[in-house]
Amino acid sequence: MKHILVTGANGQLGQCLKVLAQSSEHSFTFLNSKELDVTNPNQITSVFKTQSYDFCINCAAYTAVDKAESEVNQAQSINAQGAKNLAEACKTFNTVLIHISTDFVFDGTKHISYIETDATNPLSVYGQTKLEAEQYIQEILERYYIIRTSWLYSEFGKNFVKRMLHLARNRDELNIVDNQIGTPTYAMDLAKVILKMIPTEVYYGLYHFSNQGVASWYDFAKVIFELTQTTIKVNPIPASSYPTPAERPHFSVLNKAKIVQNFNLEIPYWQESLKKCIKALF
Ligand SMILES: NC(=O)c1ccc[n+]([C@@H]2O[C@H](COP(=O)([O-])OP(=O)(O)OC[C@H]3O[C@@H](n4cnc5c(N)ncnc54)[C@H](OP(=O)(O)O)[C@@H]3O)[C@@H](O)[C@H]2O)c1
Repeated sequence: MKHILVTGANGQLGQCLKVLAQSSEHSFTFLNSKELDVTNPNQITSVFKTQSYDFCINCAAYTAVDKAESEVNQAQSINAQGAKNLAEACKTFNTVLIHISTDFVFDGTKHISYIETDATNPLSVYGQTKLEAEQYIQEILERYYIIRTSWLYSEFGKNFVKRMLHLARNRDELNIVDNQIGTPTYAMDLAKVILKMIPTEVYYGLYHFSNQGVASWYDFAKVIFELTQTTIKVNPIPASSYPTPAERPHFSVLNKAKIVQNFNLEIPYWQESLKKCIKALF
């Protein structure tokens, strides 16, 4: 049995881990942003002193991608400095850090799926701060897992699935971007993979994980409405017709070959996982 500390426990991924923890052989401590503020090194030290942790899963993040463009310091402090603070505590207390990063570290100019060693070039403040976090962790620690994921959704928190269903309540028609291509990822699938990585403790390093398959936001919205039998007209539009403060990559499909091979995974297609999330929502 391992002792596992989870930061940012009230976020989407944190809440998925909480569900899985109920039937896990491991012992979990879930701390929210007040109980453990990753920007506060003293608070981190006192948490790590109360108990010896084998793993720390960092689910804490500043995830408001557009807002980050105007709240640069806050995004930097939580995403980059916060990850650095945790990495330093993990080094001092001999804990393995499992950290979540993003497809937004890439600029999206590639035409085939991104592998872990591809060049990064974030287009947004959010992507830049998440990349800085990766760099700090890699400098400070030898025993870490960094998992880049994409388009995370679940029955918890704020996400695209819940936003579409909410908008559909008051609209007959929606315009959704069809020229940004990636892969929706069910946070419960990511949480399961994280728990599968825990007993292995050998293949440390950087990984990509998303569900299988490829979609545009338009495809994603269409399937959400099909599965929920929601009657609404969905119009495909280019990203140029929906300007946002943060620029997003046009293509950010992640190649999962490394994580599949090292951890012997079978990754579900995004449509199959979306069905499960929608079942959990209704
Ligand atoms: N969401 C996506 O589409 C997506 C895509 C790719 C990668 N990721 C990455 O996946 C990970 C999990 O994302 P998520 O969607 O589960 O995020 P989320 O739902 O936004 O949750 C983030 C959590 O971090 C907490 N937090 C914020 N500031 C904190 C601080 N200073 N100290 C401790 N906790 C703090 C928040 O708490 P409060 O609510 O109290 O502020 C919140 O509970 C993140 O690393 C994210 O960057 C997400």
